[in-house]
Amino acid sequence: MNQLNSQSANFYFDGCALIQIKQTQSFLALVEDLRQLHFIDLGEHEDFSLNYKDTYDLKRDADLNEKLVKFLFDQGIPHKIKALTGRNYILGDLVLRKSRQIKSYMPWHRDTYLDKNKNLVGRTPPLIKLIFYPRLEDSCSHELSILRGSSKRVFRSYVIDKLQRFFVKKTKIFQSNETCVLFDSAIIHSAIPSTKHSNGSFRLIYNFCDESQVDTFRCGKTITDIYKKYELSN
Ligand SMILES: [Fe+2]
Repeated sequence: MNQLNSQSANFYFDGCALIQIKQTQSFLALVEDLRQLHFIDLGEHEDFSLNYKDTYDLKRDADLNEKLVKFLFDQGIPHKIKALTGRNYILGDLVLRKSRQIKSYMPWHRDTYLDKNKNLVGRTPPLIKLIFYPRLEDSCSHELSILRGSSKRVFRSYVIDKLQRFFVKKTKIFQSNETCVLFDSAIIHSAIPSTKHSNGSFRLIYNFCDESQVDTFRCGKTITDIYKKYELSN
Protein backbone atom coordinates (compact mmCIF):
# COMPACT_ATOMS: atom_id res chain seq x y z
CA MET A 1 0.00 0.00 0.00
CA ASN A 2 1.12 3.67 -0.49
CA GLN A 3 3.80 5.27 1.67
CA LEU A 4 2.53 8.81 2.25
CA ASN A 5 3.76 11.03 5.06
CA SER A 6 1.67 9.33 7.71
CA GLN A 7 -0.38 6.22 8.26
CA SER A 8 -3.54 8.27 8.69
CA ALA A 9 -2.92 10.01 5.34
CA ASN A 10 -2.48 6.57 3.74
CA PHE A 11 -5.70 5.35 5.28
CA TYR A 12 -7.55 8.48 4.18
CA PHE A 13 -6.57 7.97 0.53
CA ASP A 14 -6.46 4.17 0.38
CA GLY A 15 -9.48 3.40 2.56
CA CYS A 16 -7.64 0.29 3.75
CA ALA A 17 -4.56 -0.74 5.72
CA LEU A 18 -2.83 -3.88 6.89
CA ILE A 19 -2.51 -4.12 10.68
CA GLN A 20 0.41 -6.10 12.12
CA ILE A 21 -0.62 -8.72 14.67
CA LYS A 22 1.54 -8.97 17.80
CA GLN A 23 2.41 -12.63 18.43
CA THR A 24 1.29 -12.64 22.07
CA GLN A 25 0.54 -15.77 24.11
CA SER A 26 -3.19 -15.07 23.98
CA PHE A 27 -3.05 -14.59 20.20
CA LEU A 28 -1.21 -17.89 19.70
CA ALA A 29 -3.79 -19.59 21.95
CA LEU A 30 -6.61 -18.09 19.87
CA VAL A 31 -5.05 -19.41 16.65
CA GLU A 32 -4.82 -22.83 18.30
CA ASP A 33 -8.53 -22.67 19.26
CA LEU A 34 -9.37 -21.81 15.66
CA ARG A 35 -7.18 -24.63 14.34
CA GLN A 36 -9.07 -27.12 16.52
CA LEU A 37 -12.40 -25.82 15.19
CA HIS A 38 -11.14 -25.89 11.61
CA PHE A 39 -10.73 -29.65 11.57
CA ILE A 40 -14.09 -30.65 13.07
CA ASP A 41 -17.62 -30.73 11.69
CA LEU A 42 -19.14 -27.41 12.81
CA GLY A 43 -22.58 -28.75 11.90
CA GLU A 44 -22.34 -30.79 15.10
CA HIS A 45 -20.86 -28.04 17.28
CA GLU A 46 -23.35 -26.44 19.69
CA ASP A 47 -21.72 -22.99 19.44
CA PHE A 48 -22.13 -22.69 15.66
CA SER A 49 -25.20 -22.26 13.48
CA LEU A 50 -25.66 -22.70 9.75
CA ASN A 51 -26.78 -19.29 8.47
CA TYR A 52 -26.25 -19.72 4.73
CA LYS A 53 -25.38 -22.79 2.70
CA ASP A 54 -21.87 -24.02 3.66
CA THR A 55 -21.43 -21.10 6.08
CA TYR A 56 -21.26 -21.53 9.86
CA ASP A 57 -21.36 -18.59 12.28
CA LEU A 58 -20.38 -18.57 15.94
CA LYS A 59 -23.49 -18.01 18.07
CA ARG A 60 -23.84 -14.69 19.92
CA ASP A 61 -23.95 -16.31 23.35
CA ALA A 62 -20.91 -18.58 22.80
CA ASP A 63 -18.12 -18.18 25.39
CA LEU A 64 -15.54 -17.74 22.64
CA ASN A 65 -16.93 -14.26 21.90
CA GLU A 66 -15.23 -12.92 25.03
CA LYS A 67 -11.82 -14.04 23.69
CA LEU A 68 -12.58 -12.51 20.31
CA VAL A 69 -13.27 -9.11 21.92
CA LYS A 70 -10.18 -9.47 24.12
CA PHE A 71 -8.10 -9.98 20.96
CA LEU A 72 -8.93 -6.38 19.96
CA PHE A 73 -7.60 -4.92 23.20
CA ASP A 74 -4.55 -7.23 23.38
CA GLN A 75 -3.60 -5.96 19.95
CA GLY A 76 -4.38 -2.29 20.71
CA ILE A 77 -6.83 -2.19 17.80
CA PRO A 78 -9.14 0.53 19.22
CA HIS A 79 -6.13 2.90 19.55
CA LYS A 80 -4.90 2.01 16.06
CA ILE A 81 -8.33 2.73 14.56
CA LYS A 82 -8.42 6.09 16.36
CA ALA A 83 -4.92 6.92 15.09
CA LEU A 84 -5.77 5.97 11.50
CA THR A 85 -9.22 7.55 11.24
CA GLY A 86 -9.07 10.31 13.86
CA ARG A 87 -12.50 9.18 15.07
CA ASN A 88 -13.92 7.32 18.05
CA TYR A 89 -15.31 4.17 16.49
CA ILE A 90 -16.86 1.53 18.72
CA LEU A 91 -17.46 -2.16 18.13
CA GLY A 92 -20.98 -2.71 16.78
CA ASP A 93 -20.77 -6.38 16.01
CA LEU A 94 -18.47 -9.27 15.31
CA VAL A 95 -18.80 -12.64 13.68
CA LEU A 96 -16.54 -15.65 13.49
CA ARG A 97 -17.53 -17.39 10.27
CA LYS A 98 -16.39 -20.49 8.47
CA SER A 99 -17.38 -20.54 4.86
CA ARG A 100 -16.87 -23.02 2.07
CA GLN A 101 -18.73 -21.48 -0.81
CA ILE A 102 -17.65 -22.21 -4.33
CA LYS A 103 -19.52 -19.11 -5.57
CA SER A 104 -18.69 -15.78 -3.87
CA TYR A 105 -21.34 -14.87 -1.32
CA MET A 106 -20.23 -11.26 -1.66
CA PRO A 107 -18.95 -10.44 -5.19
CA TRP A 108 -17.76 -6.87 -6.03
CA HIS A 109 -19.74 -4.38 -3.96
CA ARG A 110 -19.64 -1.45 -1.54
CA ASP A 111 -21.46 -1.86 1.78
CA THR A 112 -22.63 1.77 1.47
CA TYR A 113 -23.48 2.78 -2.12
CA LEU A 114 -25.69 4.66 -4.54
CA ASP A 115 -28.26 2.38 -6.18
CA LYS A 116 -29.51 2.66 -9.78
CA ASN A 117 -31.95 5.39 -8.70
CA LYS A 118 -29.13 7.28 -6.92
CA ASN A 119 -30.54 6.48 -3.49
CA LEU A 120 -27.92 5.97 -0.80
CA VAL A 121 -28.11 2.43 0.56
CA GLY A 122 -26.32 1.17 3.67
CA ARG A 123 -25.05 2.83 6.80
CA THR A 124 -23.72 6.39 6.93
CA PRO A 125 -21.08 6.95 8.06
CA PRO A 126 -19.93 3.64 6.58
CA LEU A 127 -18.70 0.98 8.99
CA ILE A 128 -15.00 0.35 9.44
CA LYS A 129 -14.30 -3.38 9.13
CA LEU A 130 -11.43 -5.34 10.55
CA ILE A 131 -11.06 -8.87 9.19
CA PHE A 132 -8.62 -11.52 10.32
CA TYR A 133 -8.26 -14.51 7.98
CA PRO A 134 -6.32 -17.06 10.06
CA ARG A 135 -3.90 -19.35 8.28
CA LEU A 136 -4.64 -22.80 9.71
CA GLU A 137 -3.19 -25.07 7.03
CA ASP A 138 0.03 -25.08 5.01
CA SER A 139 -1.81 -23.61 2.05
CA CYS A 140 -2.57 -19.90 2.05
CA SER A 141 -5.72 -18.92 0.23
CA HIS A 142 -6.71 -15.63 -1.35
CA GLU A 143 -9.73 -14.38 0.64
CA LEU A 144 -10.55 -10.81 -0.31
CA SER A 145 -9.88 -8.31 -3.08
CA ILE A 146 -10.10 -4.56 -2.61
CA LEU A 147 -10.00 -1.62 -5.02
CA ARG A 148 -7.67 0.60 -3.07
CA GLY A 149 -8.82 4.25 -2.97
CA SER A 150 -12.35 3.48 -4.23
CA SER A 151 -13.95 4.64 -0.97
CA LYS A 152 -12.93 8.18 -2.06
CA ARG A 153 -13.81 7.60 -5.74
CA VAL A 154 -17.58 7.32 -5.95
CA PHE A 155 -19.17 8.01 -9.34
CA ARG A 156 -22.77 9.21 -9.34
CA SER A 157 -23.39 7.01 -12.36
CA TYR A 158 -24.14 3.47 -11.19
CA VAL A 159 -22.64 1.96 -14.34
CA ILE A 160 -19.41 4.01 -14.33
CA ASP A 161 -18.95 3.26 -10.64
CA LYS A 162 -19.27 -0.47 -11.38
CA LEU A 163 -16.88 -0.19 -14.35
CA GLN A 164 -13.96 1.17 -12.32
CA ARG A 165 -13.05 -2.31 -11.22
CA PHE A 166 -11.82 -3.01 -14.76
CA PHE A 167 -9.37 -0.08 -14.64
CA VAL A 168 -8.00 -0.24 -11.11
CA LYS A 169 -5.39 -2.65 -9.81
CA LYS A 170 -6.82 -5.02 -7.22
CA THR A 171 -5.22 -5.44 -3.81
CA LYS A 172 -5.38 -9.10 -2.80
CA ILE A 173 -5.69 -10.15 0.83
CA PHE A 174 -4.50 -13.66 1.74
CA GLN A 175 -4.80 -15.74 4.91
CA SER A 176 -2.19 -14.62 7.43
CA ASN A 177 -1.42 -14.95 11.13
CA GLU A 178 0.83 -11.88 10.93
CA THR A 179 -1.59 -9.27 9.61
CA CYS A 180 -5.27 -8.45 9.45
CA VAL A 181 -6.98 -5.94 7.17
CA LEU A 182 -8.82 -2.77 8.16
CA PHE A 183 -11.02 -1.01 5.61
CA ASP A 184 -13.74 1.56 5.11
CA SER A 185 -16.70 -0.61 4.10
CA ALA A 186 -17.74 1.89 1.40
CA ILE A 187 -14.68 0.67 -0.53
CA ILE A 188 -15.28 -1.66 -3.50
CA HIS A 189 -14.42 -5.16 -2.32
CA SER A 190 -15.10 -8.78 -3.15
CA ALA A 191 -15.08 -11.95 -1.02
CA ILE A 192 -13.18 -14.66 -2.89
CA PRO A 193 -14.92 -18.06 -2.93
CA SER A 194 -13.25 -21.27 -1.80
CA THR A 195 -11.52 -23.51 -4.28
CA LYS A 196 -13.10 -26.89 -5.08
CA HIS A 197 -10.79 -28.90 -2.84
CA SER A 198 -10.83 -26.49 0.11
CA ASN A 199 -12.07 -27.44 3.58
CA GLY A 200 -13.43 -23.91 3.81
CA SER A 201 -11.83 -21.02 5.66
CA PHE A 202 -12.40 -18.97 8.77
CA ARG A 203 -12.78 -15.22 8.86
CA LEU A 204 -13.14 -13.13 11.98
CA ILE A 205 -15.06 -10.00 11.07
CA TYR A 206 -15.38 -6.94 13.33
CA ASN A 207 -17.73 -4.09 12.46
CA PHE A 208 -16.82 -0.73 14.00
CA CYS A 209 -19.35 2.09 13.97
CA ASP A 210 -20.16 5.48 15.40
CA GLU A 211 -21.64 5.40 18.92
CA SER A 212 -24.98 6.58 17.45
CA GLN A 213 -25.15 3.47 15.25
CA VAL A 214 -24.64 0.81 17.93
CA ASP A 215 -28.40 0.25 18.36
CA THR A 216 -28.74 -0.65 14.65
CA PHE A 217 -26.98 -3.94 15.40
CA ARG A 218 -29.95 -6.00 16.60
CA CYS A 219 -27.94 -8.93 17.95
CA GLY A 220 -24.75 -7.14 18.93
CA LYS A 221 -25.84 -6.01 22.40
CA THR A 222 -23.96 -8.71 24.32
CA ILE A 223 -20.80 -8.14 22.30
CA THR A 224 -20.99 -4.36 22.71
CA ASP A 225 -21.35 -4.84 26.47
CA ILE A 226 -18.21 -7.03 26.59
CA TYR A 227 -16.39 -4.41 24.47
CA LYS A 228 -17.40 -1.56 26.78
CA LYS A 229 -16.20 -3.57 29.79
CA TYR A 230 -12.72 -3.94 28.22
CA GLU A 231 -12.73 -0.32 27.07
CA LEU A 232 -13.20 0.84 30.67
CA SER A 233 -10.32 -1.27 31.94
CA ASN A 234 -7.89 -0.10 29.21
FE1 LIG B 1 -18.97 -6.20 2.10
